[in-house]
Amino acid sequence: MAVLPILRFPDPRLRLPCLPVLQIDDDLRKLATDMLDTMYAAPGRGLAGPQAGAMLRIFVMDVTWKDGIPSPRICLNPEILDWSDEVATCMEGCLSIPGVPAEVTRPAEITLQWTDLSGAVLEERLTGFAATCAQHELDHLYGRLCIDLMPEAARVAASPALAALAAAGAAA
Ligand code: NI
Repeated sequence: MAVLPILRFPDPRLRLPCLPVLQIDDDLRKLATDMLDTMYAAPGRGLAGPQAGAMLRIFVMDVTWKDGIPSPRICLNPEILDWSDEVATCMEGCLSIPGVPAEVTRPAEITLQWTDLSGAVLEERLTGFAATCAQHELDHLYGRLCIDLMPEAARVAASPALAALAAAGAAA
């Protein structure tokens, strides 16, 4: 059990595409457990591999624990199989971009396929915040961040906060 350091914007590793998970071994099981510990400690509801410095197609999420109902998911090699035409707009936070919430419009429902730690391939229709969270975490695996998807005016408004994060990163 370990809480990992969370990479912060504009760390270049947050912009790299991740490699598929090819082997579920002790190292990967430890990474997944540590990522959950890190997410809960942050505290957050989702964390993707690159945020923990692991350039692999893995994310963890638990969208209900803050309501007292833990529902941890460990998603290896996740893919979206289907999107709804209906969209939803949500204010998204990212543990790598603290203090810069992003208004993002995404498909309201998705069908997510992923492999769990036992190697089983699972598929589930996600709605509501779970759908938003999974899409946000999946974006991380392609090096995409929620700030990329903000309306232009909001991005301009957020630019001083982003510049401050960049300055803090350069000073660290
Ligand atoms: Ni994020």
